[in-house]
Amino acid sequence: MSIKDTLIERVSAAMQAAGIPDDCPPMVALSGKPQFGDYQANGAMGAAKAMKTNPRELAQAIIINLQLEGIAERLEIAGPGFINITLANEYLAQNLGANAEHINDNPQNVVIDYSSPNLAKEMHVGHLRSTIIGDAIARLLEYQGHRVTRQNHMGDWGTQFGMLIAELELHLGEGEQADLALNDLELFYQQSKKHFDADPEFADKARAYVVKLQSGDAHCRKLWQKFIDVSVAHNIDIYKQLNVGLRAEHIAAESSYNDDLDNVLSALVEQSLAVDSEGAKVVFLDELADKNGDPSPMIVQKSGGGFLYASSDLACLRYRVGPLQANRILYFIDARQSLHMKQVFITGRKANFVPPEVSLEHHAFGTMMGADGKPFKTRSGGTIKLADLVVEAVERAEYLVRDKNPDLAEEDINLIARKVGIGAIKYADLSKTRTNDYIFDWDAMLSFEGNTSPYLQYAYTRIRSIFRKAGIQPEGFSAPVTLGQPQEKTLALKLLQFNEVLDQVAADCYPHTLCTYLYELASAFMSFYEQCPVLKEGVDNSTRQSRLQLCALSAATLAQGLDLLGIEVMEKM
Ligand code: ARG
Repeated sequence: MSIKDTLIERVSAAMQAAGIPDDCPPMVALSGKPQFGDYQANGAMGAAKAMKTNPRELAQAIIINLQLEGIAERLEIAGPGFINITLANEYLAQNLGANAEHINDNPQNVVIDYSSPNLAKEMHVGHLRSTIIGDAIARLLEYQGHRVTRQNHMGDWGTQFGMLIAELELHLGEGEQADLALNDLELFYQQSKKHFDADPEFADKARAYVVKLQSGDAHCRKLWQKFIDVSVAHNIDIYKQLNVGLRAEHIAAESSYNDDLDNVLSALVEQSLAVDSEGAKVVFLDELADKNGDPSPMIVQKSGGGFLYASSDLACLRYRVGPLQANRILYFIDARQSLHMKQVFITGRKANFVPPEVSLEHHAFGTMMGADGKPFKTRSGGTIKLADLVVEAVERAEYLVRDKNPDLAEEDINLIARKVGIGAIKYADLSKTRTNDYIFDWDAMLSFEGNTSPYLQYAYTRIRSIFRKAGIQPEGFSAPVTLGQPQEKTLALKLLQFNEVLDQVAADCYPHTLCTYLYELASAFMSFYEQCPVLKEGVDNSTRQSRLQLCALSAATLAQGLDLLGIEVMEKM
């Protein structure tokens, strides 16, 4: 059990013993400042209000009943009735290393919808946030023992595909190979768009091909499949370069829901949720009415009979709740799709596609901005391809790594540059509050100082070098810890909070909390290392062993935390 959970349990028991009603929460939280102890229990104020009594006296009554022998060394009442708890050094020392165990008594089936690019074009920076954040949460929940199903809801079924397969037919007709024609997907898209806009005959064919494709025409399907195969291979290559865990088996594209769309529609019509409106089938949602009281419309079938993005998302819900048996479904999608997600969720519940106990969560995020504060674009205003972004990150990192450590072997440089460059991009994103926009800034993300990936990777290499110098293997190193210096205690307390932080991120899906934690951990390690010599002559053996143990735990926790963010560490940099 985490320290926090232990304290919650004990404080709740003390509150009960002090005659406080059960519905008053203990409000245990980390203290903001060292003079307020390590943790605070702030429940006395709320309880006093409910009971119409004096909060300081109630805090006193809680303390009298609080059983923290061997856990806390000091309890203090501050201000209007805060209880400041200072933990005992021995307790912290004993619990170090217990982090390794994480048995989950309540594993859930979690479906995570992330990345989900449209296949018509090449992946661009607009897909980066969903890909990075979703992958981090998938890793974290898996680490916690949940059964995670990654779902890449790729867009492969819209009107654009009629245009693209008409274009492909044109190329193949001229004897060109599909691979070659689709070598540059971005260019291919532009060509087909040009044809579509300029040539009415081509446009008519493109429109006819969408309908044929969706009704299963073999010729169109074949062309479409060629296009999809190339586009998917391109995306998977990018996932590998980004150290993102999405593979072919995680793809459940929009087209895969095609066969259930009629069923979705008839279920909605039968329950009078979808009604006729100007030839289309529309669900009107009072729950999302505008300020004039007009319900929010969601079209599920166009007047021509075509289905839409919303229709496949409803069928998709049925798949996730049905065959995938989800307890919790997470969507990592741009904030601009918030209304769409609300409409889908509300309709899915009303139609009984999703039972009340299944949690539906849209975890939205803001936009990646350029230095000018506008959405991140190339100099000429085009979208930035992810493939190009990755190349630039690695190049920039290589330059830095060479500069910092000219003695590294050439093959090490390439490996390190990749980990540093990719880590920098990911961490820059993950460390910002998810819901805000953020500015993409190469210099800031590749800095070796501050809350950056290179700083954390560097802190890790410093610890590894201590062990190399000592000639000891850090893996499996184990020695009893005694906490003498304040920096040792601060570091131990940080180390012990790892699982608490993971619990929080697992619940609210804000990965920046984990980043902030790792940054604070690395900083606590650096202060410890400055104040508390480890290998220096004159340090007695048991102190050295104890400090090496703190070093080993710091390295392991940093590496584990970064791994959950999808960021790799290295021996040297
Ligand atoms: N393909 C969509 C886009 O690029 C994102 C899909 C997100 N997932 C979903 N189930 N709607 O905007």
